[in-house]
Amino acid sequence: MKLAGATVRRGGADDRAFVLDLGRRSASSSVSAVRTADEADVVLAFERLVAFVYEREHLALIAEVDGRRAGFLLMMYDIPDEVTLAEQAFIAYTAVEPEVRRSGVARALLDEAERYARAAGLGYLSLMVTEDNAAARALYDGAAFATERRMMTKPL
Ligand SMILES: CC(C)(COP(=O)(O)OP(=O)(O)OC[C@H]1O[C@@H](n2cnc3c(N)ncnc32)[C@H](O)[C@@H]1OP(=O)(O)O)[C@@H](O)C(=O)NCCC(=O)NCCS
Repeated sequence: MKLAGATVRRGGADDRAFVLDLGRRSASSSVSAVRTADEADVVLAFERLVAFVYEREHLALIAEVDGRRAGFLLMMYDIPDEVTLAEQAFIAYTAVEPEVRRSGVARALLDEAERYARAAGLGYLSLMVTEDNAAARALYDGAAFATERRMMTKPL
């Protein structure tokens, strides 16, 4: 079911606790099948990512459904492509509350992020996604992202 009432706005400092809370609960979705991981380490890694994003120029988008926060997207502007040095907008993370998933909230966040990236005059919108994260991969495939590189890992 598509939610007619999902709105997306720019986030502020008072949204950071929501971002941390939802992100902590969602972070394990990005653990690949190749790795074994402690939940506490995965949460810590997410907290470090949020600190990294918030200490630089960034965009936080907050999606609301029925006036309640339902999802977020964090995007940075100062992470150029490491191969070409092309300036780009880079999505650090996005997550949606489990009870409103599959109703278009992430797509609304992604579309708004793309609008901001275009408005900033950037030629690319980039992100990394875990191979095993089928929901996220389907989201990005559906939004016309192309797979550019693969990170390869061999468990030893
Ligand atoms: C990935 C995630 C953000 C998607 O959020 P969402 O609001 O449910 O996504 P949407 O409803 O906007 O879905 C848009 C499209 O993505 C695809 N998609 C989303 N979830 C999917 C799923 N579980 N299975 C298959 N396709 C899925 C579909 O093509 C969907 O369009 P459709 O519903 O018309 O078929 C959400 O599942 C989530 O928060 N996961 C945990 C955190 C995470 O993995 N973040 C991504 C890190 S890279």
